[in-house]
Amino acid sequence: MRVAAGTTQNSAEYAQARMKAHPQPRDSKSASSSANPERAYTNWLRENWDYVRFVNPGDLRVAEKTCGTSGCHAAEVRKVQTSMMTHGAMLWGAALYNNGAVPFKTPRFGESYGADGSPQRLTTFPPPTPDESARRVSCRISIRSSVGKFLSPAMCCVYLRRGGKAKPEVGNPILDEDPGKPQIKLSSRGFGTELRTDPVFLGLQKTRLLDPLLSFPGTNDQPGDYRASGCSACHVIYANDRSPEHSGSYAVHGNVGQTATSDPTIPRNESGHPIRHQFTRSIPSSQCIVCHIHPGTNMVSTYFGLYWWG
Ligand code: HEC
Ligand code: HEC
Repeated sequence: MRVAAGTTQNSAEYAQARMKAHPQPRDSKSASSSANPERAYTNWLRENWDYVRFVNPGDLRVAEKTCGTSGCHAAEVRKVQTSMMTHGAMLWGAALYNNGAVPFKTPRFGESYGADGSPQRLTTFPPPTPDESARRVSCRISIRSSVGKFLSPAMCCVYLRRGGKAKPEVGNPILDEDPGKPQIKLSSRGFGTELRTDPVFLGLQKTRLLDPLLSFPGTNDQPGDYRASGCSACHVIYANDRSPEHSGSYAVHGNVGQTATSDPTIPRNESGHPIRHQFTRSIPSSQCIVCHIHPGTNMVSTYFGLYWWG
């Protein structure tokens, strides 16, 4: 696609040529800018495959065709697709089993998506032997299409725990309670009664404990949350943190996700662009903290001297 010499970047001719030359997103909000979309969440999975490949060849929906062709990084792509940073099953498994919400010690809940964005199931194939299950962590996960669904059984351990003062009453709040933090979490009549719900299931979903998974880009809306998805989530650096202790030499680029590229077509003062449009092995801790500051994965923030306070 060509435009006449001297055409300015803000002319209609230039805009039209740009639109014709690039795969267009389904979400029209993303069409006006090359920056990462703000708060894409699961809309990202509905995006057109060609667009995802164009804006982020490292996204896990497209990585098999881009990074993972034979002779290149097929092994890395396979591993990252089944990594706990992509499916999140470790936290779900630990929180639900340890709180008595489910009786299975082997993780069953997590997230995984195919190339078209539809949910898929991860299984170990061939299945682990009883000895392997008892002694070893299984690394032979494979992907199957179909979704496992699950309904909450008893939360007896938490429900029967001692403590609590008054019996909860419908629509009658306890005045000295902190808003949103009921002292009595379950109703004394059982699940889903007297306006009480299951705290572990609700907590995991409501606080978006495992929001930061590799299938999605970051929220790209504030310092500390600028990142791409997939391989690029770690290997393409964004300006997120001004501290040289966290970001090393990248600290000089600030924390509002703006670029330092020499490419004249990328706006300088727009957030949501990587510092440079390139992969690196020089990954600063601040790049990991984009995800690892969120509850559920924030154990890595202890390396910064931070801890979970609550
Ligand atoms: C896209 C978000 C994301 C990014 C970026 C990310 N992680 Fe993770 N990471 C996770 C999630 C989510 C988990 C936990 C999965 C679970 O609990 O099931 C995790 C788990 C881990 C674990 C295992 C923790 C354990 O308890 O066994 C380590 C170690 C880790 N990450 C280190 C890193 C490092 C180092 C980087 C940067 C190079 C990084 N992560 C970048 C999301 C991310
Ligand atoms: C959670 C963060 C993270 C993600 C996601 C990630 N990587 Fe990496 N990768 C790293 C780190 C950290 C290194 C080591 C960098 C160093 O110090 O050399 C690395 C190193 C590599 C190397 C170099 C290995 C070597 O022997 O030199 C390759 C190749 C690579 N990654 C490919 C990929 C591909 C392909 C993907 C996506 C499928 C991917 N990575 C996703 C963190 C990540």
